[in-house]
Amino acid sequence: MTMKIIPVQPFDLVIFGGTGDLARRKLLPGLFRRDLAGQLPHEARIIAAARRPMRSEEFQAKAEAWLREFVSKEELSEPDLARFLGRLQYLAVDADSSEGWEGLAETLRAGGERIRAFYLAVGPRFFGPICERLGACGAATPDSRIVVEKPLGHDLASARDLNARIAAVFDEAHVYRIDHYLGKETVQNLMALRFANALFEPLWNARHVDHVQITVAENLGLDGRGEYYDRTGALRDMVQNHLLQLLCLTAMEPPGRFEPDLVRDEKVKVLRALAPIGPANVTQTTVRGQHVARNGIPGYLDDVGVASSATESFVALKANVENWRWSGTPFYLRTGKRLRARMSEIAIVFKDAPHSIFPASAGAVHGNVLVIRLQPDEGVTLRMTIKDPGPGGMRLRGAALDMSFANTLGEKVVIPDAYERLVLDVIRGDQTLFMRRDEVEAAWSWIDPILAAWEDQTNGTRPYDPGGSGPEDALLLMHREGRRWRDITG
Ligand code: BG6
Repeated sequence: MTMKIIPVQPFDLVIFGGTGDLARRKLLPGLFRRDLAGQLPHEARIIAAARRPMRSEEFQAKAEAWLREFVSKEELSEPDLARFLGRLQYLAVDADSSEGWEGLAETLRAGGERIRAFYLAVGPRFFGPICERLGACGAATPDSRIVVEKPLGHDLASARDLNARIAAVFDEAHVYRIDHYLGKETVQNLMALRFANALFEPLWNARHVDHVQITVAENLGLDGRGEYYDRTGALRDMVQNHLLQLLCLTAMEPPGRFEPDLVRDEKVKVLRALAPIGPANVTQTTVRGQHVARNGIPGYLDDVGVASSATESFVALKANVENWRWSGTPFYLRTGKRLRARMSEIAIVFKDAPHSIFPASAGAVHGNVLVIRLQPDEGVTLRMTIKDPGPGGMRLRGAALDMSFANTLGEKVVIPDAYERLVLDVIRGDQTLFMRRDEVEAAWSWIDPILAAWEDQTNGTRPYDPGGSGPEDALLLMHREGRRWRDITG
């Protein structure tokens, strides 16, 4: 049996944007849980950096309040809390001036030889300046790690520029580009399902798979992020990263070993095999939508607080992976805000049996569908056709082999938050679940022409009602090819 907790070496983790939303909601609670599990060595320090001057004691008091809000009561004991708060320091550091950098370098030097990681939980405009100042003040050593969050650019040119500015100070072997979807337990399980079971691999190709559906549906609106979102839209916010990553993991060839670069090599090959979408086919292969106000639920424009905008809060598209394995099997992707439910899944829809031996009176054969549920109720379902039990001759019906992880592995199974896993991977030096530079750029290379083609469309954004499954045209994207989306259910 593999050990559940892999101890890590002593480290200093500096969080830029240490008082921001991500630090409050995800990073500090995630680190606290790892500390609780006994994974953090006693020397480990967490240094929050932000512009405003504040004493470490004041920051610790804030952190205590955040932990009480975002960690459940059962997990919070006073001694554990005190130990964790004791690891926290605060430094005022200004990304836009030379203020505070010497102090940061000095604090890190005082820690002696240990792993050093800088987490940039700040807007992308600060990535370049922070990297440059880390280099200039000597805080970034040749082995220091840097963690960056999306958005990793707005298009290919800006992503290249960001990557170049990071690379001027940090070697690619030490750059961790976070896509938090890769830290989700079931996303990792997709790799186990595919590559640790001999059952699926022979069927995992265009001969047997009719199509793949990847849905990331959200029931919420923009949650106070209207300004960012209106500049960004669903294609950049969700498809360029999360949905394409899910597509890559579903479509990639088995890597030789489960090692960072071997896994990432295979994902890049998938991105490069995506058939281009541009002016000639954008109307047939993509649908974008924007939710309208209905029954007291605010519409997109209310959420964002603008009078007019063509930014999409919904995207559906058909992607073709042009290689030997997938030629002829489309991948349909869909994501949107204010849909019927929060539901993310990957559905592998298999082709029908080649011939039915049953009489028409037996009823229809239900094609096999393998569904990997990412959230909620993480698990795997295989839909099959069985005989309806009881007398009455041969009657067929659909049924599901349903494995919910919570039921199968016991009520006590804890599915950690993606960040909890990813931050510790940074400290361990494991880049498997992080995006490599060429991967991010390959994703933008495919997205940019779609954005450009949309620019040239008039009235391209279709309205949709909140609480539904997106615009009518998204349904047609499938219907006109004799397929249908799976229901969005909570
Ligand atoms: C973020 C997007 O990356 O992912 C958000 O910027 C989105 O718009 C979020 O709501 C969804 O993440 P999750 O983990 O809640 O599915």
